Amino acid sequence: MIPKHIIDEIMATARIEEVIGDFVALKKSGADMKALSPFSQEKTPSFYVSPNKQIFKDFSSGKGGNVVTFLMEHEQISYPEALRFLAKRYNITIPDEKEITPEEIQQANEKESLFIVLNYALEFYRDQLENTEDGKAIGKSYFLERGFREETIEKFGLGFAPQKWDAFGSAALAIGYKDEYLQLAGLSKVNEQGKRYDMFRNRVIFPIHNLSGKVVAFAGRQLSKEDKGPKYLNSPETPVYHKSDILYGMYFAKNMIRMKDKCFLVEGYTDVITLNQAGIENVVASSGTSLTDGQIRQVSRFTPNITVLYDGDPAGLKASQRGIDLILAQGMNVRLVIFPDGEDPDSYCKRVGGQEFGTYIEEHEQDFILFKSQLLFGETGKDPLRKADAVKSIVASIALIPDPVKRTIFAQECAKIMEVPEQVIASELGKARRKELDDSSRKALEAVEIAQQMVPEEEITTHLTETEKQELQVMKLLIRHAADMYDDERTVAQFVLDEIHEGLAFTNPLCANLLNEVRTAVAEGIVVDASFFVNHEESSVNSFAADALHDKYRASDRWAEIHEIPLVHEEENYRLDLHSAILHYKIRKVEMAIEANQKELKEMPADAEEETVTVLMEKQLHLITLRRSLSELIGVTVIK
Ligand code: CTP
Ligand code: MN
Repeated sequence: MIPKHIIDEIMATARIEEVIGDFVALKKSGADMKALSPFSQEKTPSFYVSPNKQIFKDFSSGKGGNVVTFLMEHEQISYPEALRFLAKRYNITIPDEKEITPEEIQQANEKESLFIVLNYALEFYRDQLENTEDGKAIGKSYFLERGFREETIEKFGLGFAPQKWDAFGSAALAIGYKDEYLQLAGLSKVNEQGKRYDMFRNRVIFPIHNLSGKVVAFAGRQLSKEDKGPKYLNSPETPVYHKSDILYGMYFAKNMIRMKDKCFLVEGYTDVITLNQAGIENVVASSGTSLTDGQIRQVSRFTPNITVLYDGDPAGLKASQRGIDLILAQGMNVRLVIFPDGEDPDSYCKRVGGQEFGTYIEEHEQDFILFKSQLLFGETGKDPLRKADAVKSIVASIALIPDPVKRTIFAQECAKIMEVPEQVIASELGKARRKELDDSSRKALEAVEIAQQMVPEEEITTHLTETEKQELQVMKLLIRHAADMYDDERTVAQFVLDEIHEGLAFTNPLCANLLNEVRTAVAEGIVVDASFFVNHEESSVNSFAADALHDKYRASDRWAEIHEIPLVHEEENYRLDLHSAILHYKIRKVEMAIEANQKELKEMPADAEEETVTVLMEKQLHLITLRRSLSELIGVTVIK
C-alpha cells in the first residue's frame, strides 16, 4: 500500500489538465478545456476537463472522473499504478510500501534488480551501436541499409552486441552489477569450465518492452546468413519476461490501437518497426512464440478488432490458423490481409511506401471466415467429399465465435460461398457448438440454471449483519472474476487473497471457509475460476456461486448464447467495483473496532490506571484517522 500521506500529496500536486494534456491536445473553452475524445473517434470535441473541479468528462463514451480515473482508463492500469505514474510525473518519492513479507520483498527486489540490469544492457547495446567502430560500421549500417531512420532506431532502442565473448558481462560487472542478475536476466551465461560469456554476440539488438515501457528482454538478429545459430536469438523466460503475455511493440502501439479501434498483427520485429516508421502505429507482433490467449487478451483491452497481416505463402496461413482460432474464440473480429507472393509487411511497405501500403490494406482486408470459405471452396472443385471436409473445417471456425448473431450471419454467408443449403451449415454448427462447450463450462451452466430455480437469493442474504453483506459482495465479485487479471501481475483471486489477510478475516462462515479454500487452491497452483465455485460439492456454496454468476451471465455473451439474444459488451468495471467493495469492507471493520473500543472506554472503572486509558484513547484516535483515510480513498476511486 502507498502510505496515505503520500496519496494526499500526489492528489494535491497533480493537475488534471497537465496530466491529460500529456496525452490529448486540450483547448481552452470558457472555464473548462476541451478536446477530441481519446476514448473514441469523433469529429466534434466532446471531451471536457475542468481545472477548477479537477475532473474530466467524456460525453462520447460516458467516462469521467478524476486524474487517477483518467489514467486507469486511458492507460489501462491499476489504481496503485496510476498513483505511481503521478508520483513519478511530479517527482514525489514513494517510501517503503505496506507490511510485506520477506519473500515478497525479495521477489520485488529481484524484479527491480532485473529491470535495472536490463536497462543497463539497453544503454550498453545502444552505446555500442552509436559510439564504437564496429557498432557503427556493422550494426548501424545494417539498420540504415534496412531503411530504418535515426529517430526510429532511437525510438525502439535498437542496439549492437559486439563480436566478443564477454563484452557486456565484463562491462556490467566492472560497474558493480551482480553476476547473479546478469544470468537471471538471460544476458550472461557460464559454461562448464566456469567461463562467463555473453548471450548476445555479434548481433543487432531489438529490446522488448512491457506494457508500461520497461525493457524486459531482447532479441538479437544475426548479421549474415553464414553466422552460426538461429536468425533471431530471444531472451529466455525470466521473472519479468513472460513470453506468453508480451506482444512486441504493444507499448508503442496501445494508444493508436485505441484511437483507430483496430490492431494490426504481424509476424516479425522488423514488420512492426517499418510500419511504425511509415506512420502505421497500431501494430504489434507475436514475435518469438505462437500467439497465446494472454497476448490476445492484451489486445482486447484496447480494441475488439484485429487484422492479421501475413505474407502470402499458404504454409504460413496454415500455421497461423491456430492463432486465428484463438482470436475468434475470444469474441474478436478477425480480418486478414494477404501480401503478394514473397513479400512480408516490412518489405512491401518499404517498396511502396506508407500511403500506398495503407490503401492496399483497405482494399485487401477481408473477413477471415469469408476468406477461408473462398480459399477452401476454390480447392475443392467438384469433389463432394472434399467439399464436405471444407464445410466442416469452416464450421469449426464459426463455432468458436461467442456471439450468436455473428455466428448466424457467417453461417449464411458461408452457405452462399460454398453453395450448400443453409440448413446443412446450421446443423453442422449445432453439432460443433455442443462439442465446443467443454464439460466443465456445460456443468457450470447447468448448475446455474438449476440453482436459480432452487434457491432464491433472499434466503442467503436475510438475517445477515452489514459486515456479512459486505463480505458476500466481495465474494460475489471474486466468484465472477476470479481468473480475470486485476493488474499486470495478479488475478482477481490473488488480489482478494492479498487484501483480505488474517487481520481482516471474514466473519460469515461461508465466506471465511470458501476464501480459505481459495487460498489453499492458489497455493497449490490450481487455477481458480467460476467452475471452482459452481462445481463445489457443498450445495450452499455452489448455489451461492450460481447466484453470483447469474448477474454476470445475464449480461454476458454466455447468457446471450443460451438465450440466443445479442448483447453489447459488458463494461469491464470489475476492478473498480472490487476495489470499492474491499474498501467498504475495511471501513466497516474499522468502524466495528471503533465501537468496541468506545464501549471499553465507557465501561472503564473510575479508578482505572491513567496509562490504560491513554492507550485506549490513542487507539481510538488511530482508528478514526484510519477510517478517514479509507473513506477518502473511496472518494478518490469511486467518483465517476
Ligand atoms: N523468429 C524468432 N526466432 C527465429 C526466427 C524468427 O523468434 N529463429 C521470430 C522473430 O520475431 C521474427 C519473426 O519470427 O521477427 C519472423 O521471422 P522471419 O520472417 O524469419 O523474420 P523477419 O521478421 O522477416 O526478419 P528479417 O526481416 O530481419 O529477415
Ligand atoms: Mn522480413
